[in-house]
Amino acid sequence: MTREELYRSFEEKNALAELGGGNERIQKQHEAGKLTARERIEKLLDKGSFVEIDKFSVHRSNNFDMPKSHIAGDGVVCGYGRIDGRQVFVYAYDFTVYGGTLGAVNARKIVKVQELALKNGAPVIALNDSGGARIQEGVESLSGYASIFYQNTIASGVIPQISAILGPCAGGACYSPALTDFIFMEKNNSYMFVTGPDVVKTVTHEEVTKEELGGAYTHGSKSGVAHFVCNTEEEVPASIRELLSFLPSNNMEDAPSDVCTDDINREIPALQDIVPIDPNVPYDMKDIIEPALDDHYFFEVMSHFAANAIVGFGRLGGNTVGVVANQPAFLAGVLDIDSSDKIARFVRFCDCFNIPIITFEDVPGFLPGTVQEHNGIIRHGAKIVYAYAEATVPKITLITRKAYGGAYIVMSSKETGSDVNLAYPTAEIAVMGAEGAVNILYRKADDEAKQKAIEEYRENFANPYRSAELGYVDEIILPKHTRIKLIQALEMAKNKVKTHPPKKHGNMPL
Ligand code: HXC
Repeated sequence: MTREELYRSFEEKNALAELGGGNERIQKQHEAGKLTARERIEKLLDKGSFVEIDKFSVHRSNNFDMPKSHIAGDGVVCGYGRIDGRQVFVYAYDFTVYGGTLGAVNARKIVKVQELALKNGAPVIALNDSGGARIQEGVESLSGYASIFYQNTIASGVIPQISAILGPCAGGACYSPALTDFIFMEKNNSYMFVTGPDVVKTVTHEEVTKEELGGAYTHGSKSGVAHFVCNTEEEVPASIRELLSFLPSNNMEDAPSDVCTDDINREIPALQDIVPIDPNVPYDMKDIIEPALDDHYFFEVMSHFAANAIVGFGRLGGNTVGVVANQPAFLAGVLDIDSSDKIARFVRFCDCFNIPIITFEDVPGFLPGTVQEHNGIIRHGAKIVYAYAEATVPKITLITRKAYGGAYIVMSSKETGSDVNLAYPTAEIAVMGAEGAVNILYRKADDEAKQKAIEEYRENFANPYRSAELGYVDEIILPKHTRIKLIQALEMAKNKVKTHPPKKHGNMPL
């Protein structure tokens, strides 16, 4: 062969590889309202930055009809590139090649990308659209998944790991996304379940559609498996890019900081009237969070799940902060099993990646009742205190109104290692609310005596001054100074050094 022929042959092979399963299957993918693996990567990364590796890998299976077809790439497109100029690693299942199923060879490709990401300290993003374990490859496929899960676990807390679900994600395949930090689901075509509707019907006689069982709505609002639900495929890469803008590339770096054009001394007069004086009247905690952050911008995580708690990212003075809050506008901001899980996991993520945590607190307590107790609110609620106590990043707490009982303790109270605790004059820090306390202490008293006792209790306990006298609150602030005070506290704590006794790892209540 001449040099020209060699080069031409390479270009032909390359073009064929880039067609994946071929034009017919690409058309089918488009007709289903989905992009191909390469189109997805193109939209995710900075233009022209993608470098593909292992493009010519083919399967080695001799089972069924497999030896008759060897499609280059073997069902997954792998490589690296840049997002906002920063390095990331990526792999995208290619549904046009054997339904994006996982066998020994493409599992090895994925593990190679995961190892490169870990060695080089850069985020890894997985774009899922797959029929799951490749039946023809039997146990080799299962062991391929196991090696991916192993890498997910080893990389956890070292580099951010992000999964997008853009098609089917069935069976054990769900566990790789579940082991990553954030899951994005596209609303129309994605679903995740351990066993599909047919198996469900056989085993439990339940009739359920795949959307009801494991669609984006289900996982975004009921199960809490998905962190972001996107309306279209196009929204997914845009949201992933935005999320990464808040995160460091690995656990040895600080989160990227942005130029702050929003005045760090900006007062917020509107906040003076936000918290109702009547403790039974709700308000929206986001009306405090948003104006306090740079440019009023809050990037919420898990917005549809456990809405009685709020978590997400923002910036203060240009620096990334993780925001955790109770939401008095939903179930009065009470803590229950789901909100405990939501808060604890987010706090741990922030701590892994050196992101200071700001806690906005207005919480009447833990939700009472048999449903909560029988399902383990004790175990789940304990996760919050564990996560906050373990976190060594700067922790700032602002009590806007209620901080009652065990919920006061777990929401980053002073003795669980918070660095700065602030309170509005409207704060009520007590074992419980006035009515509840009086009903216990004055059970047999008449209504008039009870009313008097309630007023006395409010006077003596339902305020921040006792806590401030004892040093559990560092400063009582006016609401209009929220932004200034949070930035001051962060600035004070920015060089914080805190370590815990050496150990293999703790035994968090799970
Ligand atoms: C081999 C598979 C496959 C599989 C799909 N294909 N799933 N090949 N192993 N698991 C092939 C199909 O034969 C077809 O090949 C191509 O992929 C596209 O599939 P279609 O069925 O034509 O597409 P569609 O109608 O869109 O349906 C997609 C699907 C369906 C919903 C994913 O294919 C399906 O239900 N597949 C089985 C899903 C599953 O049960 N997976 C195993 C889960 S258990 P051709 O050549 O015709 O294009 C599991 C265990 C992992 O994953 C455990 C890890 C710990």
